Amino acid sequence: MNLEVFADAEALAMGAAEQIAAVLREAPGERVSLGLAGGSTPAATYRQLRALPLSWERVDAWLADERWVPHNHSDSNGQMAAGLLLDHVNARFHRPRWAPWLEPAESAAHYEATLRSLHQPDVGPDLVLLGIGTDGHTASLFPGTLALADERRWYVANDVPHLKTTRLTCTLPFLQRAQRVFFLVAGTDKADVMSRIAAGEDLPATLVAKIVPDTIWLIDRPAASKLPT
Ligand code: 6PG
Repeated sequence: MNLEVFADAEALAMGAAEQIAAVLREAPGERVSLGLAGGSTPAATYRQLRALPLSWERVDAWLADERWVPHNHSDSNGQMAAGLLLDHVNARFHRPRWAPWLEPAESAAHYEATLRSLHQPDVGPDLVLLGIGTDGHTASLFPGTLALADERRWYVANDVPHLKTTRLTCTLPFLQRAQRVFFLVAGTDKADVMSRIAAGEDLPATLVAKIVPDTIWLIDRPAASKLPT
């Protein structure tokens, strides 16, 4: 497990922002593909990242997953990423469509077509940022949900029964194409799941780390507190 432990959430945010910026600067292609994590953990990193100098005009930013809510909804990952990062830099931000008359599966299929148009057939995303839930989910690949079994599509609508909702999420086949994944994990509440992942338990986050060789875990000391020393 390629792990970097930071003293606290603030140090993680700064350290992660610097490492993300370095990857984006060094990316070899004309365009740079950056997958963004949702949830609350990346917020501090996005705030730091927007202040770092890099050629944002090269960057195609997209969402590793999105809740099925209007774009301006407080639960929207896109709203969070735009407010904290993408409204402040001149990257191209590709968001999944949402409309009251649109089916999640239609939006996911359209978003997949967008993602396929952004990536050469044999070149995956330069960097995908992901978080983890206390149950080991990542993006909206929750344990026991159908999206985990999809072997063909890159982006799907995933029913999440215990949340009584549908989420849009990238899939393992798409994540497997990533050149690099950074997991951003902070807080004592993630210590147990980090311990389970380090022990190799078959959780969605563990699966991603297995299929993307260049995966780095950027975590703070509280989240690392139950890892073997
Ligand atoms: C989401 C995220 C999800 C998130 C984890 C951790 O849409 O919620 O994509 O995978 O990364 O649930 O969330 P926190 O960072 O809020 O703990």
